[in-house]
Amino acid sequence: MLQVQGLSKKYGAIVVADAIDLALESGHCLGVIGPNGAGKSSLFNLLTGVARPDRGSIRLDGVELVGKPPHQRARLGVARAFQIPQSFANLTVYENVLAAASFGAGLRGARAALRAQHALQRCALGARSGELAGRLPLLDRKRLEVAKAIATNPRLLLLDEVAGGLTEPEVAALAALVAELKAEYAVIWIEHIPQALHAVADRILVLHFGRKLLEAPPAQAMASREVREIYMGLPADA
Ligand SMILES: Nc1ncnc2c1ncn2[C@@H]1O[C@H](COP(=O)(O)OP(=O)(O)OP(=O)(O)O)[C@@H](O)[C@H]1O
Ligand SMILES: [Mg+2]
Repeated sequence: MLQVQGLSKKYGAIVVADAIDLALESGHCLGVIGPNGAGKSSLFNLLTGVARPDRGSIRLDGVELVGKPPHQRARLGVARAFQIPQSFANLTVYENVLAAASFGAGLRGARAALRAQHALQRCALGARSGELAGRLPLLDRKRLEVAKAIATNPRLLLLDEVAGGLTEPEVAALAALVAELKAEYAVIWIEHIPQALHAVADRILVLHFGRKLLEAPPAQAMASREVREIYMGLPADA
C-alpha cells in the first residue's frame, strides 16, 4: 500500500531523511525508534506533506503523494496522531472527532456523525463523548488523538509517540488499542518505549541522523548491537 523510495530531506546541515526506502501493507505495523532528533517526526512531516522532500517518492496505492498538499493526502487516506495532542480543549470529545470527520474525511451531516461515533467506539471513548477535551486524563487525550485520526477514514495511520508520558498499564492499554487497529489500517508507530512496540509492531525501523540503520522483527531489532549502542547508549556487552 505504501511505497517510499529514496526519501531525502535536509534542513541546512541537518539531515532528517537520508535516502529512506519503506514498504508497508494494510494489516501491518511498522514501529520506528531512534534517538531524539533522529528524524522520526520529520518522516511523518514528509509523509503528510507538511514538509517537502529534496528527493524521493511516496506512493500510496500507486498514487504519488509528493507535491500534494496535506489536505489532499488526508483525503487519500493519510492520517496522523501528533506527538503533542492537538485537540480543541474547549470542544467536547465528540465535537473534536466530528471536526476530524468533517474536515479530514470531507463528510457531512449524518455520515460525519456516524463516522465520529465509530471512531469514538473504536477508541473506547464512547462514555466520554460529552466531556471537554481539555479536561480528559492523559490516556484519554492520547486516545482522542488516535480517534481523530481514525475519523478521517484513513488507510495509513501515523502514530507519533502516542504512548509518551503514560504509566506502564496505560501504555499496555494503548498498545492493545493499536494492535486492534492494525487489522484495518497500515500503521507506522513512532515510540520511545520499545516495550510498547514489541507486542504490536511486525517490524521495527531504527532511524539515526535520518538514516535507516536497521529494519527487522522486534526481537531482532532490540537485540542488535546498533540499537544497544546508539539508541540505548549501551556498549554491546552491557
Ligand atoms: N522545520 C525544521 N527546520 C529546521 N530544523 C528542523 C525542522 N524540523 C525538524 N528539524 C530538526 O531536524 C531534526 C530531526 O527532528 P525530528 O523532530 O524529526 O526528530 P525526532 O526523531 O522526532 O525527535 P524526538 O524523539 O525528539 O521527537 C532535529 O534536529 C530538529 O531540530
Ligand atoms: Mg518526534
